[in-house]
Amino acid sequence: MEIDSDVKDGSLILIKQGAEARVFESNFVGRRSIVKERFSKKYRHPSLDAKLTLKRLNAEARCMTKARRLGVSTPVLYAVDPLLHTLTFEYVEGHSVKDMFLEFGLHGVVEERMDDIATQIGDAIGKLHDGGLIHGDLTTSNMLIRNGTNQLVLIDFGLSFTSTLPEDKAVDLYVLERALLSMHSSCGNVMDRVIAAYRKSSKQWSSTMNKLAQVRQRGRKRTMVG
Ligand SMILES: Nc1ncnc2c1ncn2[C@@H]1O[C@H](COP(=O)(O)OP(=O)(O)OP(=O)(O)O)[C@@H](O)[C@H]1O
Ligand SMILES: [Mg+2]
Repeated sequence: MEIDSDVKDGSLILIKQGAEARVFESNFVGRRSIVKERFSKKYRHPSLDAKLTLKRLNAEARCMTKARRLGVSTPVLYAVDPLLHTLTFEYVEGHSVKDMFLEFGLHGVVEERMDDIATQIGDAIGKLHDGGLIHGDLTTSNMLIRNGTNQLVLIDFGLSFTSTLPEDKAVDLYVLERALLSMHSSCGNVMDRVIAAYRKSSKQWSSTMNKLAQVRQRGRKRTMVG
């Protein structure tokens, strides 16, 4: 098989060091891949910590697979290593929605592209929510646009969980709304377009929207107090 990346099989190049995970670029049997390693939190008891780390790792793999089953595009999961605490995924070639929106902010919004991305985001979240899956970290850096097809790919299911509660769905949307307001205000009202697509995609949109109004209200009060 042709090796489509400069990274040799088994070698790891660190691309992101976070508080709970390290993300590497690697090569998995000739395919460009991403390795996400969860590591322990030093302040936790070692054996309890190992258990929790493994639980999160399995939960992330399960949620990602579930999203895929619900018709939402995610990277292909290549491997789970419970000893090294790693997940290996397909490397998605493309840009993050964050980079694309920052680019629109700097050089002007390409309305057609923006509409397409916002619609795909709302549609994907609606599918997750109707399937009882909450992403838990809906920021624009956890969304990629695949080169060539311009398909939205959701990543980072590290905080995902299953729930059918309108409150959990509303908070999921609210996280995205805050992220869009704080990072991409120069792109116009992207959230309105996301919500329009969400309403078409989710059968339960109305109870989620009612809750979202309450969650926003609480958020506003917190801002006034803080
Ligand atoms: N399958 C993938 N293909 C291409 N790039 C990826 C892939 N998975 C992750 N990345 C890149 O690595 C970054 C970090 O990955 P991820 O979000 O899963 O980890 P994280 O540690 O939870 O990050 P964060 O703190 O930003 O939430 C992503 O923002 C993206 O740029
Ligand atoms: Mg992330």
